Amino acid sequence: MQGKRILLGITGGIAAYKIAFLIRLLKKAEAEVKCIMTPASCDFISPLVVSTLSGNPVGIEFWNKKDGSWNNHVEYGLWADLFVVAPLTTNTLSKMAVGSCDNLLLATYLSMKTNTLVAPAMDLDMYTHASTQRNLDQLLKDGVGIIPVESGELASGLSGEGRMAEPETIFDAINSYFQSKFDPVYKGKNVLITAGPTYESIDPVRFIGNHSSGKMGYGIAHEFLKQGANVTLVSGPSNLSLEHPNLKLIRVKSADQMLEVVQGVWCECQFGVFAAAVADYRPKVQVNQKIKKSDEELTITLTKNPDILKWAGQNKKENQCLVGFALETNDLKNNATKKLEKKNLNMIVMNSLADSGAGFGVDTNKISILDNRNNFETFELKSKAEVAKDILLFLKNYIS
Ligand code: CTP
Repeated sequence: MQGKRILLGITGGIAAYKIAFLIRLLKKAEAEVKCIMTPASCDFISPLVVSTLSGNPVGIEFWNKKDGSWNNHVEYGLWADLFVVAPLTTNTLSKMAVGSCDNLLLATYLSMKTNTLVAPAMDLDMYTHASTQRNLDQLLKDGVGIIPVESGELASGLSGEGRMAEPETIFDAINSYFQSKFDPVYKGKNVLITAGPTYESIDPVRFIGNHSSGKMGYGIAHEFLKQGANVTLVSGPSNLSLEHPNLKLIRVKSADQMLEVVQGVWCECQFGVFAAAVADYRPKVQVNQKIKKSDEELTITLTKNPDILKWAGQNKKENQCLVGFALETNDLKNNATKKLEKKNLNMIVMNSLADSGAGFGVDTNKISILDNRNNFETFELKSKAEVAKDILLFLKNYIS
């Protein structure tokens, strides 16, 4: 459970108070927890309790009425490794079954990029009602996992089926979900990832850089961490951040600095995925003082940067697997094949700036992968988090 990102959706039933215990269990197991509450659930458990225990702000409304800031349901959907709705009331169940979207929790459900588990909680007559059973069936058909209700004393004073599963049972269900998803091939393996742009200094205030956000490299790092790997992420300047007990995030600016870190770490790693958009050239001379405006034209002489991926390929041992990226504007497969050979790679991930939704700065990517045994696969346009999963799966098939 360590480092897993669990998004908890809380709806308005009396069992909501038990979610405090579930959050405690998840936090003790070192999971990251964020919560979304329906407005009705705030009558059953205070958002202050939920935010304090989870260590994160709670999402309730689509937007904050005080400062106008927006709670982005799409970002919640991308962040989570698992969405758990507990307790799930009859009302929210029926809305999930038909795809209704009148609160943040429901919008997030519809934007979810990963699986959803629900723990229904209701009175026994509501639970056995034909419409409730029909809605639960619909959720199952939609791929939602249902943590069965328990039988016993209900808030109404009646006794029977409908009680929400106890927090320990929900915790076990979450744990089993991750166990079944866990891919042992990467467990305990050392992985080196480069991400983001590099900035090559011209003078103290200016640099040569590029539009890379680092999203692809950070997404790959997160996916390896989920699979139990130890990750060293060497990141050029990026606004992104990532935290995990098995992650070493080393921030650098220039290609030279990135190379230095890579040279110190690569020999200890089994996998390398080099997603950084490294500047191919840097100013030959770095001026110590700000360049003043003078002539109509200014010429800056550039000199070639080290090719970090090529260095890793040249120093690759039998037990190491190296993955590079190729961002091209034309003749994609041909150029990528040359890079695969020239840099002694096992695999190359290609993307084309000609494809809309692929490349720098966007949340999506459209890739093809080629390996050095001539296996080739093309993928649909997907979120970068999903693309990272495809890359790890292709790599797993390559090594097994
Ligand atoms: N790369 C690197 N160091 C460099 C340049 C590129 O490590 N100095 C890596 C990138 O991280 C990527 C791969 O090499 O994994 C390909 O980068 P790309 O810019 O597409 O290719 P180049 O080799 O620089 O060739 P060109 O720019 O001429 O297409």
